[in-house]
This record gives sequence, C-alpha cells and structure tokens, in this order.
Amino acid sequence: MDDLLITGGAGFIGSHVVRKFIKSGKYNIINLDKLTYAGNLENLRDVENESYYTFVKGDICDIDFLQNLFSAHDFKGVIHLAAESHVDRSITNPMEFIQTNVVGTVNLLNAAKKSWEGKSDRRFYHVSTDEVYGSLGEKGFFLETTPYDPKSPYSASKASSDHFVRAYGNTYGLPYVISNCSNNYGPNHFPEKLIPLMIHNIRNKKPLPVYGKGENIRDWLYVEDHARAIELIFEKGKNKETYNIGGFNEWKNIDLVELLCDIMDEKLGNNQGTSRELITFVKDRAGHDMRYAIDATKIKKELGWEPSLQFKEGLQKTVDWYFDNEEWLNDVTSGDYLKYYDENYKNRQ
Ligand code: NAD
Ligand code: DAU
Repeated sequence: MDDLLITGGAGFIGSHVVRKFIKSGKYNIINLDKLTYAGNLENLRDVENESYYTFVKGDICDIDFLQNLFSAHDFKGVIHLAAESHVDRSITNPMEFIQTNVVGTVNLLNAAKKSWEGKSDRRFYHVSTDEVYGSLGEKGFFLETTPYDPKSPYSASKASSDHFVRAYGNTYGLPYVISNCSNNYGPNHFPEKLIPLMIHNIRNKKPLPVYGKGENIRDWLYVEDHARAIELIFEKGKNKETYNIGGFNEWKNIDLVELLCDIMDEKLGNNQGTSRELITFVKDRAGHDMRYAIDATKIKKELGWEPSLQFKEGLQKTVDWYFDNEEWLNDVTSGDYLKYYDENYKNRQ
C-alpha cells in the first residue's frame, strides 16, 4: 500500500480529509501536524486506531525533521493543508503566517523534490483559499483565471505559497495540483471563526460580535463536501491545474448570524428572537474583504463534483454537532482561547 502524507490533518478541514482517506482504504496515511492551538487529536479520536494510519507530531518549518520523514517513507503523494488559517490573527501577527504558510510550504516542496527525483507518478496537492483572488464587488465570481490580488497578511501568505508550488512545477517539474476553496463550516471548526464562535456565544449568552455593518458576503460550503472534492482532485485532477471549490451559497454575515440565532433558539427552546438580542456591531476588521464568491463550474464539468448539502441542513447538522460535543467545545474554549477572545473583543469596542 502506498504511503500518503497529509499535513495539518489534526485541524478543521484536515481531520475530515484524513478520515475520508482512511475510509477509502487505499493508502497508508501519515498525518503530520504540529498541534498548534488549532490542531486537536480529539478531531480524529474515532479513527486513530485504524490500521494504515499514523500520527506524527512535527513542524513543517523544521527542515531536518522533514528530510528524515521523507527518508523514512516513499510518499506517493502529499496533501498539504497545514497552515495558520485565521485572518484576524494574521493582522496581529503576520510573521507567524509567513513562517508556516510560506517557509513551511517551501520546506515541504524541497523535501518532496529531493525525495521524488527520478520518480514519476507522484503528486503534491496544495490546498488553498479563494482569498488569494482578493475581494469582489456586488457582481461577478472568482474563476481559476482570476488574477491574484490578496489583501490580508493571511491571503498574501497563501498566495505566495501557491506561487511557490507553481514555480516548483515550472522550474523543477514537480507534479502538483492546487485547489482554492471558499469558506468551510461544520464539525471540528475552531470557535474563533464566525459560525462556531456565534454558536458558542449564543449558548453562553455572550455578545455576538458582528464586524462593521455585517454586510460582507461569504460563500459557505460544508466541510465534508470540501473533503470529498479534495479526494476527487487528488485521484482524478490533472497535474498543473487549479480547481476552484465553492458552494454557490452566498450569505451576508448579518443574515447568516440571524439565521443561526433562529436555529439556536429552536434548539434551546427559547422564544424566537431571544438570541438575536445578543447581536452587537463592533469595530470592523482592518482591510475587510467585502465579498467572496466562487464559480465552481470547472470542477463540476471536469470531475463531476458539486455540493451535496443545502445550507440550512448543513447549519442544523453543525449546531447539533456542537451540542453533542460539548466537552470538545469546553476543552478548546478554556485556557488561552479565553485570553485571545477577550482581548480581540475588547479591541473592537
Ligand atoms: P486549521 O487552522 O483548523 O488547521 C490547521 C492545522 O495545521 C492545525 O492542525 C495545525 O496544528 C496545523 N499546523 C499549523 N502550523 C503547522 C506547522 N508549522 N507544522 C505542522 N502543522 C501545522 O485550518 P483549516 O481551516 O482546517 O484550513 C486547512 C487548510 O485549508 C489551510 O491551508 C487553509 O488555508 C485552507 N483553507 C481553509 C478554508 C476554511 O474555510 N477554513 C477554506 C479554504 C482553504
Ligand atoms: O474564504 C476562505 C477563508 O475563509 C479561509 O481561507 C480562511 O482560513 C477561513 O478562516 C475563512 O476566512 P474568513 O475571514 O472569511 O472567515 P471568518 O470566519 O474569520 O469570518 C467570516 C466573516 O465573518 C468575515 O466577513 C468576518 C466576519 N466576522 C468574523 C468573526 C470571527 C464577524 O463579523 N465577527 C466575528 O467575530
């Protein structure tokens, strides 16, 4: 059975990707993760004892560690998800994003290039974001051909890593594929991001901080649909190609938060309207991108992928998951999380 390296597999999306590949039974999966605040082995508790699965704690910024790992395994492929992923944190601490997202990715490219010399039939799959395309006005969509125009330190670091992957393909012939996806939501999402943060705060009757006027628009996709697209692209996508992945599911932040409040009121047995009273408009995110919207026609036409879940169904499943996994939520929202959240909230008053 071929060895497959998945980086960032203990994080939100990575954990769904790891589970999907374990279930396919086709590879010996090595999940490499540093276990930063965003990585959590609880996300994979149900599959951790499966055969052909190994967790390795390590840092993609550590070159020696990577060389040793690539010497110990003849990886058939790499699916690279490890990253710093939160835009707000990139605004307060951009260097960490440059280290992990840019330097870490180039380290991984170097390790793959060295190990794959003279071997064909290998693939480096870089998982990226729609934020590299910048921000849309009222109309239009991001296409695979849309010029890069990243606007936050996070998206600039992801754009840079995308460029390095393509440069290694062009210069050294490294076989690669890239996908750029819109906003994911679902189980295991760390509660610093909009949807799980709102679920957590509604449960605890805390203010719901909506940035600016809440008019920014995001295109939401259920995380398992993204994981399914990643598996398909890894197996059937073409080298050197880019695939955009999205839900054709645009929501204004304030409309989404109100919908979530209503779903939560139903779940908590509250009178409708109770949770909406917690909505608090706060200082906007610096350089806040107005609108993201993916045109996912190419992946539909070429690989037959489309989202499987309606948004309300996906949101309901997500809310149910957070209620059923209270311990997970309590665990990740203790300690440093509270300090980070309180500071972030205070700075937005
Ligand atoms: P996440 O923050 O939940 O998980 C990131 C994982 O990477 C964590 O497990 C963390 O421990 C690990 N990690 C961080 N630094 C590392 C390092 N130096 N070495 C090894 N491991 C390290 O992120 P996510 O939301 O699951 O995103 C995963 C990938 O998908 C990222 O590359 C992100 O840019 C991309 N992406 C995310 C979204 C989204 O909506 N969340 C959408 C499109 C693309
Ligand atoms: O588009 C893909 C990207 O989506 C991924 O590449 C990123 O890793 C992921 O974090 C996500 O980025 P966003 O910045 O869009 O997600 P976030 O959940 O942080 O914010 C979604 C929207 O909600 C955004 O317009 C900011 C707003 N927001 C966010 C938070 C945390 C609020 O209004 N209040 C909040 O408290």
